[in-house]
Amino acid sequence: MTSPDYASILDEIYRDLRPHFGRGRVADYIPELANVRAEHFGMAIVTVDGHVYRSGDADLRFSIQSISKLFACTLAFQLLGDSLWDRVGREPSGNAFNSLVQLEFEAGKPRNPFINAGALVVTDVLCRRFVRAETALVEFVRRLTGEPSIDYDLRVAESELAHAERNRAMAHFMASFGNMDMPADAVIDAYCRQCAISMNCVELARAALFLANGGVSPANGEQVVDASSAKRLSALMLTCGTYDAAGDFVYRVGLPAKSGVGGGIVAVLPGEFAVCVWSPGLDPTGNSQVGQMALEWLTTRTGRSIF
Ligand code: DON
Repeated sequence: MTSPDYASILDEIYRDLRPHFGRGRVADYIPELANVRAEHFGMAIVTVDGHVYRSGDADLRFSIQSISKLFACTLAFQLLGDSLWDRVGREPSGNAFNSLVQLEFEAGKPRNPFINAGALVVTDVLCRRFVRAETALVEFVRRLTGEPSIDYDLRVAESELAHAERNRAMAHFMASFGNMDMPADAVIDAYCRQCAISMNCVELARAALFLANGGVSPANGEQVVDASSAKRLSALMLTCGTYDAAGDFVYRVGLPAKSGVGGGIVAVLPGEFAVCVWSPGLDPTGNSQVGQMALEWLTTRTGRSIF
């Protein structure tokens, strides 16, 4: 099968989406994120055979927020394998990413590693293993991208740390069920720093490409996870990566994906490419509104999805 003309398709998507730029609501519960202009739009595709296609603000860094949960979960899965699932589940939650309600019914075991509660358990695993979990994560994405200048934004991290009551409540609540090994406040500190990592669309697509390439990062040839684990992580993205919108998202887009409240969404097409889109305006579920449209148009116009 010949490859679609990704360059032209990205140009067309940019042109046709232009009237929609700025739609949605920029996250403001982390005050520093509210300073980002809603009108930004960037998109990048990196193929497993090394081609890079980009449009708009694809080279401008933004706050990756919950997209960090994908990389954190990958590191924790590398460390623990299937025993990770003793502490966090693999089912979609059907609830908002920052919801507390299921935690009490389900005895402090979060539904999946991509909602906040599950990500806090994952960060707890990393805090136990590494002196600084956020540094381990920054080093991981630097390796995956070959970009040594990637780092977390201290202002964004401090802004979230000053407004992290809900996540703190979750971490302490899970501690009360015995599902937190490290002090909850240390885990919150590392979690807010990992969410504050800044990357651009090209870097994020490059970093996620191992999932589309049997677990091997094309950037450095590193076997990040085995092929079976790449399948499993992608499956989790499909069912849980966009929270309570996961069903609607996969209906529209047909790709495993992970979103963040900075307005980024990363998605993969196994064997072909990783794509990242960024548009800061969110819909009520916390997923980029225009970003979802862009990905829907990409899979519709290329005729390529996992289905
Ligand atoms: O914990 C939080 O609320 C943020 N640091 C991350 C949430 C997030 O990105 C949800 N994604 N759509």
